[in-house]
Amino acid sequence: MTTRMVGATNALRRLANLMVFTQSAIVVTGGAVRITGSGLGCSTWPECTPGSYTPTPDQPEAPLHAWIEFGNRLLTFVLLLNALALMISILRNRRKDLRKMGGFQIIGILAQGVLGGITVLTGLNPATVAAHFLLSMVLIAGALSLRQRIYEKTPNYFTLIPIVRRLMALHLFLTCTVLIVGTIVTGSGPHAGDTTAERFNLDAKTMSWIHADLVIALIGVTVALLIAVRLGENEATKRIVNMKVQIFLAIALAQGAIGYLQYFTGLPEIVVGMHLIGAVLVWIAAWNLVILSNLKGRKLNADSSPALTREG
Ligand code: HEM
Repeated sequence: MTTRMVGATNALRRLANLMVFTQSAIVVTGGAVRITGSGLGCSTWPECTPGSYTPTPDQPEAPLHAWIEFGNRLLTFVLLLNALALMISILRNRRKDLRKMGGFQIIGILAQGVLGGITVLTGLNPATVAAHFLLSMVLIAGALSLRQRIYEKTPNYFTLIPIVRRLMALHLFLTCTVLIVGTIVTGSGPHAGDTTAERFNLDAKTMSWIHADLVIALIGVTVALLIAVRLGENEATKRIVNMKVQIFLAIALAQGAIGYLQYFTGLPEIVVGMHLIGAVLVWIAAWNLVILSNLKGRKLNADSSPALTREG
């Protein structure tokens, strides 16, 4: 490999890492907009206030709310620049296999911009707020898979026994359900992003308990997964999968504790923010398991050993 090629590959890696980070960070800053009640700090879209794309001193919304919401809008451009630079790097590295994944990030960010606009124009309808969050989860997953494909750290020969595979599918299903129900809890609760915003006509307490019960089921499946891996997988597979499942379990338990803390303390903003960061971390850990389980179809290469030598 020439120095130039090494430089191009390093740039690709850095941009993919950054993509995972920026896609995750905007979920947290978007949450900050909601938690600080700044969701309608800019009353319209794509302009911030009628006649201006940026906040103006004479607009009726409080300046702090306007700048928080506007700042978050600007971050979309940072993500877009990141995704465009990533695409250019993919093309420079002649990685045809990554083009669709790179394109998905660009289209997803543009779609998020429009969905953010719809969210404002519908006066922060909780269904669009939830969709905005969930689309971000899809984009984080896409960025993680893209990163994995670039690094190819996980071994290219990898088989999981059927029970582990089935438990992983159930694990993904439950994680998605926990996240979706979480957004319904938020849509029924007090942190709407603006005092005028509509709420789901649901009892927030009941929804919280359903959400927490699903988390308990998820923790149960995670423990079952750990046991199945320990009892059934060969040593090399066990080493890799065990580590990833344990990471998930640790993050999910911490997130569960934050969930109960926020519930029993009346949803203080700071704890709600921590729960949002926790949700992103839980999702990243869950998607890393999906990446592992998707390596099943990889054929054994002539130069790779069935023993797992490189860890992901
Ligand atoms: C693996 C564990 C958990 C995950 C992944 C998770 C995930 C989520 C997500 C994604 C949201 C919506 C965030 C948003 O829309 O901005 C949420 C909200 C919420 N979760 Fe959890 N959660 C977990 C555990 C728990 C537990 C154990 C409780 C305990 C009752 C809980 C209580 C809540 C409450 C009250 C909200 C609404 C917060 C608000 O009004 O803004 N969560 N959760």
